[in-house]
Amino acid sequence: MTATRDFVQANRDRFLEELIAWLRIPSISADSAYKGDVVKAADWLVEKMEALGMSRVEKYATPGHPIVYAEKIIDDTRPTILVYGHYDVQPPDPMNLWNSPPFEPVIKDEKIYARGACDDKGQVYMHVKAIEALNEEGELPCNVKFIIEGEEEVGSVNLESFIKSYKDMLAADIILVSDTSMIANDTPSITVALRGMSYVEVEVVGPNRDLHSGVYGGAIANPVNVLCEMIASLKDATGRITVDGFYDKVIDLSAEDRAEMAKQPFDLSAYKAELGIAATGGGEDGYTPLERSSIRPTLDVNGIWGGYIGEGAKTVLPSKAAAKISMRLVPDQDPDEITALFKAHFEKIAPDTVKVSVHPHHGGKAAMVSTRSAGYQAAARAMETTFGKTPIPTREGGSIPIVALFKEVLGLETVLMGFGLHSDAIHSPNEHYGIFNYLKGIETIPYFHKYFAESK
Ligand code: BES
Ligand code: MN
Ligand code: MN
Repeated sequence: MTATRDFVQANRDRFLEELIAWLRIPSISADSAYKGDVVKAADWLVEKMEALGMSRVEKYATPGHPIVYAEKIIDDTRPTILVYGHYDVQPPDPMNLWNSPPFEPVIKDEKIYARGACDDKGQVYMHVKAIEALNEEGELPCNVKFIIEGEEEVGSVNLESFIKSYKDMLAADIILVSDTSMIANDTPSITVALRGMSYVEVEVVGPNRDLHSGVYGGAIANPVNVLCEMIASLKDATGRITVDGFYDKVIDLSAEDRAEMAKQPFDLSAYKAELGIAATGGGEDGYTPLERSSIRPTLDVNGIWGGYIGEGAKTVLPSKAAAKISMRLVPDQDPDEITALFKAHFEKIAPDTVKVSVHPHHGGKAAMVSTRSAGYQAAARAMETTFGKTPIPTREGGSIPIVALFKEVLGLETVLMGFGLHSDAIHSPNEHYGIFNYLKGIETIPYFHKYFAESK
């Protein structure tokens, strides 16, 4: 299999060009103006799957964006790998902070800059090219199926019913996902935990119209001020979330597990320097930044608006204010329960000067992967082969809601073998993906197929 490496190197330029062509399609799932482009990105993938000689290649319509399915079944006695990923991307804004346009990919300093470069088109396409590499070498060691969706960034709302309806088609032995990160290019790691999510939008309404802030200011409560006070009260002085019942089901990590986690390489000063901050913060006292961003739940405002935000100064006491709030959850918090607790709490703390409403968006449960599972072991061996180092199991703070549902609905474990880096600026301006990471992924994935086949 040393041939894999040579094959990847020999086809490097073409592999990059193909990915760049896909990245040019602005498949922004959150913005309905891009609905047509989301379909184009799905069609593009369908074409590549067909070119690869995959069977049952199909674009399945959903009430939202389509799901792309493809498979290659060698024979029924071989284990089956189901590859999951997403071809939709986050909105690129704020546009003015991009050094080059988000959908006009450029290569600079050995990195591809574009929205979706790492999250997740670049990582999905590694799997497509890995199949090409395996085809080149002979027969696939495992049967392979792909399910690549277009709604991950908006909560995978239509995927649950899809996997329920197509259980037989999706039957597999393991789910393989590349949509997470590693510690560093010389420190491979495999994700063993993802956080869950409850996402809500809140609105605070005061007077029935915008008012002159001089004529009414002081006599009438300002909804923007009120919203800020309410949000500020959602965490106490120790960083604990004050929503009643929020921590009831949180499973605390054992002292042993925390000690194990603390061994993971983490350079606090490099972390702060990379983000341009003097100090970390925002979490609970008594936990390290790594713990706060993985094994502990959090609450963050993702957006807040109200009043005048145009040029210059306009004196106005706005009628309304609103915010989007995400809560990242850990085992065994239930997203629906947390949403209900938040709603009850937020309504309870509202002063009678305003009316509040809470609108739930999407949610999802946290997920865990056992390092003893056959899938984890095959991924660890694969990374060991191509990186020359044993990967470290890591717990991540991000969410992939479908992972918990794969277990619940299909009864399948997932392996989270991602090749991104936290510094890749996913969801931010100037998202990028290292050429090293992209090619390393293409090189490593065939070993996963081989070792997983051996273990079965
Ligand atoms: N790929 C990310 C999740 C991720 C990133 C996990 C880095 C671990 C490390 C995924 O595309 C994502 O952004 N998920 C959303 C889920 C949400 C829309 C329900 C998230 O985490 O915000
Ligand atoms: Mn992703
Ligand atoms: Mn994402």
